[in-house]
Amino acid sequence: MDTVIIDGVTLYLAHPDELNIPLYNKEDIIEQILACWFVLDEKDIPLTPRLVGKPGVGKTTLAYAAAKRLNKEVYIFQATVDTRPEDLIITPVISEDKKIRYVASPIVTAMIKGGVAIIDEANRMSEKSWASLAPLLDARRYVESIIAGIKIKAHPDFRLCVTMNEDASTFELPEYIQSRLQPQIFIDFPSYEEEKAILKTNLPWLEEGLLDYIVKFLQITHEYGEPYSIRDGVSIGRYVLKKLAFLKNNSSNTSKEPLDLLKEAISLILGQQALVYFKEFIENKGKSKAGKPLLYPLD
Ligand SMILES: Nc1ncnc2c1ncn2[C@@H]1O[C@H](COP(=O)(O)OP(=O)(O)OP(=O)(O)O)[C@@H](O)[C@H]1O
Ligand SMILES: [Mg+2]
Repeated sequence: MDTVIIDGVTLYLAHPDELNIPLYNKEDIIEQILACWFVLDEKDIPLTPRLVGKPGVGKTTLAYAAAKRLNKEVYIFQATVDTRPEDLIITPVISEDKKIRYVASPIVTAMIKGGVAIIDEANRMSEKSWASLAPLLDARRYVESIIAGIKIKAHPDFRLCVTMNEDASTFELPEYIQSRLQPQIFIDFPSYEEEKAILKTNLPWLEEGLLDYIVKFLQITHEYGEPYSIRDGVSIGRYVLKKLAFLKNNSSNTSKEPLDLLKEAISLILGQQALVYFKEFIENKGKSKAGKPLLYPLD
């Protein structure tokens, strides 16, 4: 573990995150994040953008993609309902030689090294935890560790971004924190072309026809306001591929049409009720329940 000494206290630093994930760069969003992080001169300070949007639309992936563009180390802090204020800053741990070691959080490590920190699912932690970050989020750019008794200033290259989820198990943040996490960058469901490209990056083995089916299905469910996401699309495609390969490997006699496997995957992953969209667009060949023309009719 790397260490640094600040005001006589030795801090053990966190390791950067190296995610080996397939990336489709949504340039408009990445540009907005990078613009927030841009500084005009040495007196200017970066903004801390807040990525918001439905589950599974790519908030974490795009925050990481933007951070990687800066060619700096990226540190991800996963916030949870159990995150305590000191977890965000410095925690004491007992080492093997029975001494207390002060361990810097991923956020503090990024502050010291001039890296990028991402606080993921940031609205899962409480206001009490947020309060310890308030001075970091304005022009002061420092945090204080009560436990180690030191103040840590952010390196000028330090950048921060947070992602937030819109679901029931989150906290409403107080105004003074919200106002420090601006601007809000909203990530919407992707367009047909984007969704297809994202699925293709994740599932290069999937044949074009099946890929199109999955994207059409997802687009129709987005149109109806269902919460099915890219992540679900990836899981559906992955299951179909695995089942096809499994059946082939076991020279099984139960040969199945890829379309039936797709239905099986959708029903297992999203539940039986999701097949409504499937049947609907097969039976009505392009007309939705409400008589609205579907954006992507089957043939
Ligand atoms: N731009 C992208 N490039 C590649 N894959 C993506 C992209 N966006 C989404 N995905 C796929 O969708 C999945 C969900 O994306 P991600 O975890 O970034 O969403 P999220 O908005 O952070 O979700 P949650 O709200 O659950 O935290 C990823 O695991 C990946 O498979
Ligand atoms: Mg996420």
